[in-house]
This record gives sequence, C-alpha cells and structure tokens, in this order.
Amino acid sequence: MTADLDAVALSILKDNDLGGYTIPTKGLYPYQWNWDSVFVAFGFATFDLNRAWTEIENLFEGQWADGMVPHILFRKNDPSYFPGPGVWGTKTEPFPTSGHSQPPVAATAVRDLLEMSSAADNIARAKVLFPKLMDWHRWWATYRDPKGHGSVAIVHPWESGRDNLPDWDEPLSMVGTEGVGEYTRKDTSHVDPEMRPKKLDYDRYMAILNAGKSVGWDARKTVEVTPFLVADPGITMILLRANRDLLVMADRLGFNDDKAEIESWIAQLERGLESLWNPAINAYVTRNLRTDVMGTGVSSASFLASYAGVTDPKVIEPMQAHFDRIAGAAEYMLPSYDPAHEGFEHKRYWRGPVWAVVNYMAARGMREAGDLNRAEKIRHDTVRLIEKSGFAEYFSPVDGSGAGGKSFSWTAAVWLAWATPSLAANKAA
Ligand code: DGY
Repeated sequence: MTADLDAVALSILKDNDLGGYTIPTKGLYPYQWNWDSVFVAFGFATFDLNRAWTEIENLFEGQWADGMVPHILFRKNDPSYFPGPGVWGTKTEPFPTSGHSQPPVAATAVRDLLEMSSAADNIARAKVLFPKLMDWHRWWATYRDPKGHGSVAIVHPWESGRDNLPDWDEPLSMVGTEGVGEYTRKDTSHVDPEMRPKKLDYDRYMAILNAGKSVGWDARKTVEVTPFLVADPGITMILLRANRDLLVMADRLGFNDDKAEIESWIAQLERGLESLWNPAINAYVTRNLRTDVMGTGVSSASFLASYAGVTDPKVIEPMQAHFDRIAGAAEYMLPSYDPAHEGFEHKRYWRGPVWAVVNYMAARGMREAGDLNRAEKIRHDTVRLIEKSGFAEYFSPVDGSGAGGKSFSWTAAVWLAWATPSLAANKAA
C-alpha cells in the first residue's frame, strides 16, 4: 500500500508539472499558486532537489517591484478558472498575476533545501533567493501592520489561503456587494458546491477584489480602501517561523548586515501574536482591524504555535488541552475549525475539513518542541485519510471522505516529504 501511494504521489507531481512550475490540480486550479508551489517543492526535494529549487525560483519570477509575491501567477490564460487575469487587471511582467499575496512558507522551504546539500551550486541558489525573500518579508513588515500591533493584516480572505474560515464571517458581513454585478463561477463546475464557499461569500470576495483593483493594488492604498482588513494568526505564525529560518540562513550564507532587520521583524511578530490571543477561548484567533472584534473559534492555524517557535506554557498548555478535546470529538485530526463551534461544516473547504499541509506544519512544530505523541497522531491520521480517500484537496474530519479537487499536488507533496510510512524516520515512529 505505502509503495503504491508513494508511486501515485510521484506521478501526481509529475502530471501537474507544467514545465518548471506545478499547478495544484487540473481544471479547478490551472495556474501557479504561491504556497501550493512551496509545498510542492518540499515534495520534489525528496527525489529531485534541482526541480525543487526550480519551483521556488519560478515562483519568484512573479515577485512585484515592491517585494510582494502574489498568490497566483497567470503564466498562460486558462478559461477553466475564475477570476482569471482579465478580472484582476494587474499589468505585471512577464505575465499577469493576482494582486495580493499568500502565506509566506518559502523561506522555510529554502532553508530546508539549503540544508540538504553543501554543494556549491546548492549554496549559490540559496544566495540568489535570499535577497528576494528579504524583499518579500520587508513588504509584510512595511505594509501589513497598519495599526502597529505587530500582527499580519490581510486584505482579502484569499490571502490567508483559508478562504471561508468561519472567523471571516464577521468582517465579511461588513462588505457591501452593490456594484459587483453578474459573473460566472467556475469552481462549482469542477467541484460539488456543498464543498465550496457560498454565493454570498463569492460576491464579497469580488467586492474586495474590485476595491484593490480600483487603486491598482498599490500596497499602501489597498490597505486603506479594502473593506476587509483582518489580522490573521495563520500568516502571522507562518511568517514568524519563516523569519527565524531566514535569520539562520543570513548567518549561514554570510548576509550578516541583514540580521538586525530580521530580528526586528521577529520581535514585531512576537508582539503581534500576543495581540491575537483570545482569553475567552484560550487560543490565537483572527482580529478584525476595523472593529477590533476577535474570532471566536479554534482553527487549525491556532495549532501552529510551536511551528512559530512559541514556547510559553501559557500558550502551549491550553493548546494541548484543545488538541486533546478535539481529538476526542473528531475521527481525524486536524479539523480546520473547531467541531464544537456552530460555524463548523465537515466538508465545506476551510470550515472544518482537514488539510494535509496544515497538518504538516503543525506536526513539524510539535515534533520540534518535543510533543512527539501529538505530532505522530497528526501524521498517522494524515496517512489514514490518504489511504482511505487518496490525494484529495481536503478531507472530512468526521468520515474521512475526500473533498474538493482530486490528484492534488500539495497533498501528494506532503505525503512524500513527511507522512509516508516509507520514510525512515516514520518507520521508527
Ligand atoms: C480559489 O479560487 O478557491 C482560491 O482559493 C483562491 O486563491
């Protein structure tokens, strides 16, 4: 079974490889997505280190002059996706892109690739990417902390990568949809609409997109005009982790002059994370920066605390209690949203389903922090899900059924990089 699944995972990555960049899945997502590509690189690195580098190098071909790395790179037009390049209206070269970013996992992957080989070429490739990563992380620090809390603000739910998280409902309820007009979704022609965001969500997504477009996605003006400005614990923790990895690379690669700046970003994000702690539920949650209303549910991103390097028992112990409680209620960990919350829906995208990539990050952090049992529980559940339902986009935490797109690149990639029982480390576990 394991050998077969390894082979299937490999063939999914090869099939979705359009020549130096990898699409998440055919039909539903026919372009290069930012964090998808980075997880794909973790997968390629298990059998082709050169190809892993290329994936990330090509992602940075889409980097904007201000440092932002966009969430979609529209390398060639494909009418199977909405909203495509014409809707975003960006005028970027050498190809159009979307107008905002996505969780910055890349520095963590680049550090991993760097550590896989001490060959001169390997070090040289990390050296080329390092200043580009600096520019991207500086963009977050400069433009995405408008209130000075230190946390990362997003301007669109799509930027979080967790599009329809129940915690976005409150800030989204303030987004007017007048003027959005008619449009035709494509996602629901590929996937059961019950597994996707609802029409009202999409109307609001389009209204927010139109606001960013109206100011040409200028970084500062977009933050001013967007009707959705929310601090996201997911990006805050992923960026905090990525900055720690960037600091290690600065040392290793000789970029010593950059260290103080990276340290200042780390301090900023550590302070920001404190502003996202909701004492009413004892977890890191979202915070609407227009109203100061905090999210009310434990999400899978709340479990990225150890991944972000948080060691404070006042955080870790309540999170462990949440983990054990949720593990008692759900058949498969980690649900993307608390099954005890009224917003939970087990098959609707980010309102409950398990996502292998979040499992990977959360378990990686827990293992690094010495919480081996919980880390292994997450990995084992990921294996059970993939054995039961294949390389789906996401999975029901209730019955383990696959949902969303099929033959999904990042699910295949994290299988190869982390979950598969054929990895020596996992055989011993
Ligand atoms: C989609 O189209 O569903 C994506 O999540 C947006 O990035």
